Amino acid sequence: MNRREVLLSVGASATLLACSGDGTTDGPGTEPTPAPDRPAEPEPWAAPGTYDEAAFGWSLLAGDATTDGVVLVARTTEPTVDCVVVAQDGTGWTEVARKTGVTSTEGSVRIELDGLTPDTAHNWILASADGARRTLVGRFRTAPTNDGHRKLVIGATSCLNPGGDVGFPGLSFAATERLDAFLLLGDTVYADGSRTVDEYRAFWRGVCATPSFRDLVASTSVIATWDDHEVANNWTLGAGDGFNETLIDQAWLDDATFAFKEAIPMRPGPNGGIWRKLSYGTIADILVMDCRGERQEDVRIVSDEQLQWVTEQLAQSQAAFKIVMVSIHAADHSALLGFIEEEDRWQGYPSQRDVLVAAAEAVPGVLFVTGDMHYGAIQKLSPAGEPGEGLWEFAVGPSGSEVFLLSTLVNLANDEVASQYPVVLEDWNWGRLTLDPGLMTATLELVGDDGSVLGSMIIPF
Ligand SMILES: [Fe+2]
Repeated sequence: MNRREVLLSVGASATLLACSGDGTTDGPGTEPTPAPDRPAEPEPWAAPGTYDEAAFGWSLLAGDATTDGVVLVARTTEPTVDCVVVAQDGTGWTEVARKTGVTSTEGSVRIELDGLTPDTAHNWILASADGARRTLVGRFRTAPTNDGHRKLVIGATSCLNPGGDVGFPGLSFAATERLDAFLLLGDTVYADGSRTVDEYRAFWRGVCATPSFRDLVASTSVIATWDDHEVANNWTLGAGDGFNETLIDQAWLDDATFAFKEAIPMRPGPNGGIWRKLSYGTIADILVMDCRGERQEDVRIVSDEQLQWVTEQLAQSQAAFKIVMVSIHAADHSALLGFIEEEDRWQGYPSQRDVLVAAAEAVPGVLFVTGDMHYGAIQKLSPAGEPGEGLWEFAVGPSGSEVFLLSTLVNLANDEVASQYPVVLEDWNWGRLTLDPGLMTATLELVGDDGSVLGSMIIPF
């Protein structure tokens, strides 16, 4: 039995173990009703002009879509470009926004759009001033308002690493799904060894020009956070006393941060940084955390301000699902890995983790989505009997970097392990989350390089 077969058997038994929703949204005696699927969308817009790969070969990225707005980012060799946006109407596409003469800054174009219609598919291009040459056609979908009631389908991955000719095969399949959004959990680039903005840019260019990633981010909007490799492997600012660290100074961090924020379309959070909330009406709130930029090794994993923010957001959320988007695992892996490298996950910061777990346990519908550890999993946040044992974590990726072969260290079929880790996948993957606010279920699927589902569960909330 090869590695994949072992994991398929784990995934298959886990699927059988999954139960269906218990219907908390309807009154006694009534069957819960599935929420409607996403609305159909027309074939992509037949945009004018021809695709010019030399001038517009970098990915188009749309990000942080709201009910009426989005941030668009692209790189180009053109000094000025026009941006044209069309929205789905009854029969096809209608132009809803046009910005002409947008100046590129050091080859980068960034546009914030507002005034868009909620829960509507949009297509967009950047074009040369004469309109003859353009980017690929990008797509994104604005978020539903509080009136919206339907399934939300989101993709997610972490740990890409430029794969040379191999690329990120699974992401080509994600690109065909017209997702509501795609979560980038961090290690989107492995820019280790970079020191200047241009050196960081070269790594972003490597990923963004890779066809599978380019096609994925042209097909939906992204919601991104970062992990260590956007800066340097296990970086620490200033003097550190840990091991296996890259000690960096503020100017170095500023260069890496500049390249990240230039490449990724996002709006600053409430403190001007990465942690922020994206809302999908009453269906889902996505709480994007920054578990890298505020870390002090062995002291704290996030600032007190960020921890207070996420606990308040969890308590205040009116959405059916609260997605906590964390680059590293929130799970307590003491039963799996003991204390190995626990300083690189929430487990190593128990006082802050206790606060996060208590806030998540206090409200319904919380799901952690995480990356970093280079194996895919649907796992419980804590061993049986511990606070957090009823919470779930969907660990996604890697999508191109080295796979962590957990099964060489641990017997995954051991009952105690399997109860906390019902689905483990040691293969390249991305995650698909189908959130159904009618049944109050999250269907979690780990999708492989050929588009097939390698492990899945239906989690009732
Ligand atoms: Fe990674």
